[in-house]
Amino acid sequence: MNIFLVLLLLVTSLLACESPQPQAGSTAPARYSEPHRPQFHFSPDSMWMNDPNGMVFFDGEYHLFYQFYPDSTVWGPMHWGHAVSRDMVRWEHLPIALYPDSLGYIFSGSAVIDHRNTSGFGDGSTPPMVAIFTQHDIAGEQAGQTDYQTQSIAYSLDKGRTWTKYAANPVIPNPGIKDFRDPKVIWHDATGRWVMVLAAYDKAMFYTSPDLKTWAYASEFGIEGDKRLWECPDLFPMRAAGSDTIAWILITSIQQQGPNGGTATSYFVGDFDGNTFTANPSEQRWLDHGKDNYAMVTWSNVPDGRTLALGWMSNWQYAQVVPTMRWRSAMTLPRHLQLSGTSGGPILRSAPAREVENLRGHTLPLAAGEVENGMMNLAELASPLMEIQFQFSPEQSSARRFGLIWTNDEGDSLRLGFDRERNGWFVDRSQAGASDFSKEFAGIHLGPELDSAKLDLRIFLDWSSLEAFCEAGDVSFTEIFFPNEPMKHLAVFAEGGKAVWGPGSRWELKRIW
Ligand code: FRU
Repeated sequence: MNIFLVLLLLVTSLLACESPQPQAGSTAPARYSEPHRPQFHFSPDSMWMNDPNGMVFFDGEYHLFYQFYPDSTVWGPMHWGHAVSRDMVRWEHLPIALYPDSLGYIFSGSAVIDHRNTSGFGDGSTPPMVAIFTQHDIAGEQAGQTDYQTQSIAYSLDKGRTWTKYAANPVIPNPGIKDFRDPKVIWHDATGRWVMVLAAYDKAMFYTSPDLKTWAYASEFGIEGDKRLWECPDLFPMRAAGSDTIAWILITSIQQQGPNGGTATSYFVGDFDGNTFTANPSEQRWLDHGKDNYAMVTWSNVPDGRTLALGWMSNWQYAQVVPTMRWRSAMTLPRHLQLSGTSGGPILRSAPAREVENLRGHTLPLAAGEVENGMMNLAELASPLMEIQFQFSPEQSSARRFGLIWTNDEGDSLRLGFDRERNGWFVDRSQAGASDFSKEFAGIHLGPELDSAKLDLRIFLDWSSLEAFCEAGDVSFTEIFFPNEPMKHLAVFAEGGKAVWGPGSRWELKRIW
C-alpha cells in the first residue's frame, strides 16, 4: 500500500469518526448534495456500504438490506442496513436491522416470506419474513481457524422493522471450508421445500430444507481447475420469451480477474432439478461488462413474477478509497433480467426496471446527424442527470471508433463507444476525473465481441455513474467516475470515418433525495 493510500485512509477514517451516525427514517438529508453523491441511486445516508442483502417484496414494499458498517467509511464489522421503497426508485432509510453478535459479523445473505409458515415463526396472522445470512467469527479468523463462517437465520413479524435471531443458530455449521458464505434461499415448487445456494470457496453448494431451520447438503457446482473465489450466488428459474422451456440461472460473483479486472458478477444458464444444478461450466458469462456491478442478486417474492435485481456499484479493487467523504458506495438501478436468444445460446439481457421511468422529468429531443473524423455537439446540459435513448446507423457508421462523449470545462471526458475493429462496445473512463486513488481505476473497459450489432443505446447518467444498456440490454456497462465538475456537454465522436445516427430522446432525471 503506498503512502498516498495510507494518508487517504487515515483522513477518511478521521472524517468518519466526526460524522454523525446514520439517521433512520430520513428521506432527504441536505447532504445528498455533496460532490459525487448519487442523485437517483440508493446510497447510505452515511458510512460504508457493500453488497445488497435480503432483497424481498412484502406488503407493498421492496426491502433492501445491505452490508453496512455504521462507524466508518471503510469496511468493518458488518451489520445489515435497511431501506424500503414502493417502487425501487425512491427509498426510505430505516434503522439497522441486524447487529453482529457472539457468532460474528452479519455477512451477506437473503430473505424470504415464509407464506406456509414452515418455520413455525409465524403468529398465525402474518407470514414471517425470514433472513438467512452468514456469520463471520472474526476471533476465529484471527486465531487461524478455518471454520469461522456459518449460516444463521432471523425472523420478523413486523415488515422487517424488528428482528429476532433464531435461538439455535447457526443452522448450518462450517464443514471445514474457510470461505463458506452468502446464502440465497428460494422456495422450490416442484419439490415443495426450500433450496439454498451458497458460495463455498471456488464453487456453489446447494442445500435443501423443509423449514429453514434444518438443512441437508444436496450437491455442488464449479469449474474444474478455476480457483477464483465465488461470492454472493443466486439461483432462479426463467422462461425464454415465446417458449415453454424453463432455464435455471445460477449467478455467482467472482472476487478476482473479472473481464475488466477485479470483481464482477457472472452467471450460468442451465437446469436445476431441486438437488443438482447442471450447466456447461465453460459457458460462464458476465452479467455486466463495466467494472462496477458486483454481488448482483434478485428480489424474492416479486408480485408480478419479474426477475428484478440490484448490484453493488463498486469494485473491491478500489471501493474503500474512492474519493467520497461521508459515505461510500451506491447500488445500481433496479434491473429487469430476461433471457435473450443469441447465436451463441441464451444470455441474460438486462434493462432498467420499468419503475425507473418514474424518474423522468422534461423530455428533450436529440437531433439526428452525422460527423466524420471529429466531434459534433449534441446538447449542452443544464443538468447532468439524464436518460438517453439513441441509435447509430449500423449501415452508415463506418468509423473505426465512434460513440457518445460527455465533457466538462475541467478537461474531463467520459466515452461510450463502439469499436468496429473488434465489433464491440467499450467505455473509456481513462480521463473522466479523479483516478489517482487507485491505479486500477482509470481505463478502457471492453464489452464482448458481437456477431452483429444494432448499435442502439439506453443510458443513465448520474453525478458519478454511468449505466449503459447496449443492444437492447444484451451488453451492459456499469461504471462509476469522479469528475472535477459535472459533465456539461454531450457530443458524438468519430475516429477514422463517419458516425451517423437517427433522432434520439433525452430525459432530465429527477433527484430522489
Ligand atoms: C462480497 C462479500 C461477501 C461477504 C460480504 C462481507 O462483496 O465479500 O462475500 O459476505 O462481502 O461484507
